[in-house]
Amino acid sequence: MKIEGKFYYRGEIIEGGIEIEEGRIKRIKKHVEGAKKIRGLILPGALDLHVHFREPGYEYKEDFYTGSMAAAYGGVTFVMDMPNTRPNVVDAETFLDKLNRVKTRSNVDFSLYIMLTERAKNLVSLNAAFKWYMGETTGVEAGENVSVPENSFISVHAELDSCIRKESHNLRDHDLARPERCEADAVRSILDQGKFHIAHVSGIDTVDLCRIGGFTCEVTPHHLFLHQDMPLGAKGKVNPPLRAKWQTEKLWDALLQGRIDIVASDHAPHTEEEKDEDFEVAPAGIPEVETYVPIFLYLMKYEKIPLQRMIQVLMEKPAQLLSLKKGKIEMGYDADLIAVNLSDVRKIKGEDLHYKCGWTPYEGFKAIFPHTVILRGENIIEDYEMVGERMGHFVKIEKAKDLYSTY
Ligand code: DOR
Ligand code: ZN
Repeated sequence: MKIEGKFYYRGEIIEGGIEIEEGRIKRIKKHVEGAKKIRGLILPGALDLHVHFREPGYEYKEDFYTGSMAAAYGGVTFVMDMPNTRPNVVDAETFLDKLNRVKTRSNVDFSLYIMLTERAKNLVSLNAAFKWYMGETTGVEAGENVSVPENSFISVHAELDSCIRKESHNLRDHDLARPERCEADAVRSILDQGKFHIAHVSGIDTVDLCRIGGFTCEVTPHHLFLHQDMPLGAKGKVNPPLRAKWQTEKLWDALLQGRIDIVASDHAPHTEEEKDEDFEVAPAGIPEVETYVPIFLYLMKYEKIPLQRMIQVLMEKPAQLLSLKKGKIEMGYDADLIAVNLSDVRKIKGEDLHYKCGWTPYEGFKAIFPHTVILRGENIIEDYEMVGERMGHFVKIEKAKDLYSTY
């Protein structure tokens, strides 16, 4: 495949051609003979290190095929799926069972997490990442007895189990039931236990602690775009909870200043019926994977975030944390690309999205969706429609080398 157009290369937008061979970027030149012209702006595909595609066990909420299709439509070409499925992914058997179910059905490249338990040290050869649930949340008990393997990528759900109240009545009360303090204390308690990646930071103290500990961290779109005073009811119920508006502003500052490393969606779909239950019993989690890159593109257009910083947090840095040759338009890197027309601003509608659950808390938000998505040199989305299915590969996580933040 050979393409030509405007693309993001080493910090700026240039015009030129990209030659792709065997799924990788072979050459970048001013002009490439016989190249196909791509309209708009070409960027790397995004990497989402935190999704819940619900397979096996909760396929009525989402499955790997639908989740990864939604990812592709939203400009995400790589996802890492969480282990709080039924059964939980905790050992070689549950891991291989999941891999066998999903490996020929994913529409984007993917890796899998294994839950961190006392068995983890013996599972490093499976080339997965690990997820440590310090506190109880949807589909999991808190993990107390854990062994920490070295040089693995370990994402931590940091809410101290002993600190949280398990029932809450509305969004503000949910924040009180699982306050920011429980998150910061959880991170504080593991500062000398290894090098970790802290998932979905929701408070600024947690961000500061991550910096002190040399940990990396992610923020979710919902902790940036939503807050507890919005009329979302249980649709806004999520762990850790939505905070106050001023706190979202602090997280934005930290993201822009480089104190937060990456954005990851924490796509956690539940059906509308489940979310329509009373607040106390409705499950926590928000669907996100299809909308967050398009919302970021819109915000970038209106200068809420510079293009360079957006590329770092959505594409370059997530790849770097896993030592993957993805997330960059650079020789030798996988040709995972998206193309957008920045004047094509659309309002998000739940019914247009590809989730099984059919709803989004971002109804009416403005967004810019990619018209073209390329996965390792093959078009998977063209003219906003899927043209190539099930081409995602399982990607091994060999070793997480770059666990220290650079900013
Ligand atoms: O709100 C949440 N939902 N937080 C989690 O940690 C899990 C997730 C889910 O799987 O639904
Ligand atoms: Zn999650």
